[in-house]
Amino acid sequence: MGTGRSGRDTQVTFLIYKTLIENRMSTLDPNVGLYGRQKGKRLGVFQKTLMEQKLPQLIYDVNTPADLKKVFGETCTEYFLEIGFGGGEHLAALAKANPRVGFIGCEPFENGVAKLVKAIEEFSLKNVRIYQGSATNVIAQLPDQALSRVYLLYPDPWPKRRHRKRRFVSDEKLTDLARVLKTEGELRFATDIDDYAGWTLARVARSTCFSWLPLNSSDWTVPWFDWTQTRYERKAISENRKPAYFKFIRI
Ligand SMILES: C[S@@+](CC[C@H](N)C(=O)[O-])C[C@H]1O[C@@H](n2cnc3c(N)ncnc32)[C@H](O)[C@@H]1O
Repeated sequence: MGTGRSGRDTQVTFLIYKTLIENRMSTLDPNVGLYGRQKGKRLGVFQKTLMEQKLPQLIYDVNTPADLKKVFGETCTEYFLEIGFGGGEHLAALAKANPRVGFIGCEPFENGVAKLVKAIEEFSLKNVRIYQGSATNVIAQLPDQALSRVYLLYPDPWPKRRHRKRRFVSDEKLTDLARVLKTEGELRFATDIDDYAGWTLARVARSTCFSWLPLNSSDWTVPWFDWTQTRYERKAISENRKPAYFKFIRI
């Protein structure tokens, strides 16, 4: 007669199962497309405490629809993304100098995230959010034309031929980045690896979404006026590699 106990149990089990599946589907894998290490030296007590107490309020959530006005409040009028911020020195300096810009920083490496959290505390920055995972998820979640600028500074070069497909820059990524950039928005790219510079220029040249119009060689040999040197750039220069700085414009 009607739904017996076993019928109700089956229904409840089904609902629990459905909720679990839906939750799993709506949680993006932070490791998508990552190949490098995500943990280094064990965090010190101070860093660990900072991560536990401060990071939760700084997290950029990719599992809910992006609403950057809500995330950054009324003070911020435009938004920048930095992909693979490393130790966060560039992002923190830029965020300090531009309090009306909301910054999303993506970095899977825990020790780098801990450094940025420390800088955010030191400078009392209110305009930075962190995604501890692959930038691919943030780019996929952002609405069209959400950003004025994207930084990709010294991405992992993957020099071996068989590893080059791991490089962050690809035709598909350029299309994805073009979607989230406003017209005349900028993709700023720096590298010390000539082959990665050529690889990127070739893809930008065949993209219909970006232009690169240097006036002379200082356009790519001299850093941008608001540049803050990153750890990888310091390493590159100390090893006699020459950095190149490219500003690609979304057309
Ligand atoms: C060579 S390091 C450069 C770090 C920093 N930009 C600098 O110049 O010092 C490249 C960084 O990109 C991060 N990375 C690699 N793939 C990434 C991805 N898909 N999304 C976000 N960060 C990524 C790595 O964890 C690493 O910290």
